[in-house]
Amino acid sequence: MQSLNFFELMKRIEQAVLELNQDGIVAIPTETVYGLAGNAFSEKAVRKIFTLKKRPFNNPLIVHIKSVNDLTNVAQEIPDLAYNLATTFWPGPLTLILKKKNSVAQAVTAGLETVAVRMPNHPLALDLLERLDFPLAAPSANPFGSISPTTAAHVFSYFGANLKNILDGGECERGVESTIIGFDDNNHPTLYRYGSISLEEIERVTGQIKIYNNEGVKPNAPGMLSKHYAPVTESILTEDVPGMMRIFPGKRIGLLLFKEKVTDDILVHQEILSETGDFEEAAKNLYSAMHRLDEKGPDVIIFQQLPMKGLGLTINDKLRRAAKK
Ligand code: TXA
Ligand code: MG
Repeated sequence: MQSLNFFELMKRIEQAVLELNQDGIVAIPTETVYGLAGNAFSEKAVRKIFTLKKRPFNNPLIVHIKSVNDLTNVAQEIPDLAYNLATTFWPGPLTLILKKKNSVAQAVTAGLETVAVRMPNHPLALDLLERLDFPLAAPSANPFGSISPTTAAHVFSYFGANLKNILDGGECERGVESTIIGFDDNNHPTLYRYGSISLEEIERVTGQIKIYNNEGVKPNAPGMLSKHYAPVTESILTEDVPGMMRIFPGKRIGLLLFKEKVTDDILVHQEILSETGDFEEAAKNLYSAMHRLDEKGPDVIIFQQLPMKGLGLTINDKLRRAAKK
């Protein structure tokens, strides 16, 4: 996809405003991944998102707002700690689960009493939100269960002509989804999804928090599905890549490695996430590398587990879900 000049981009934004005001769906860039956005106050718009994405209606969406002040348009009984987190990390890749207001379409929250909300840190997304008088519900712009999109080209390859307007904001800076934090009845925070703000960074604000364990829990309970973000190719996660390769003699293998090659054997393809071992760079490259590996069509993809600290925890969580059968 070619990048647009300023005037073409302005035209696209104006078109997006028109479409969104008529309950249409527009793909938008954020700092994490691209989103499929629609009016969060319109049942009709939100239903279109679920249909296009083939997402089960019991899996709720995230609402995107343009400022901390707008929180009270969608949520109520907001804990002080939620405000602390919002003012620390917004605009940015932090999603808060809060008690919802009735203004939010039922379909957004899948009937739950809580709503997921964040203020994205991308100039195009914020510009668009400024021009609208409603917030935007937006899941990641990929068909349900597949690899999240970090470029406009990824979105186009998934939806093509079914999506009239894809706002191209370049490659997503963070590359993995927002970190999701909720609160229990005593307003104690819980991590619902590992994301692009590390657990350590969150705990610097909150102190130690609980980790929500969603294994075996139905998706309409808060949280995420255990299989997710997956390439089409069979994928396996391991600490011992050479050992795992020996299990597949004669197979066409693709490798997703953290910082260096582990073998000079002839492979279908290999991807290094960060040659300097930088977690942020690795996160930014993660989904693009998965997309490229998948396109090469190997028989199997082997993911190398990263060190279990910082964003390594987030990346390993995504890899584990992608490799889950
Ligand atoms: O970075 C992101 O968060 C991206 C960009 C586009 O903002 N969005 C994104 O949306 O990742 P999606 O739909 O792919 O993931 C939303 C997650 C799901 O795991 C869903 O279960 C959870 O948020 N969620 C939404 N509402 C919830 C709620 N009320 N309680 C618990 N989890 C909720
Ligand atoms: Mg998603």
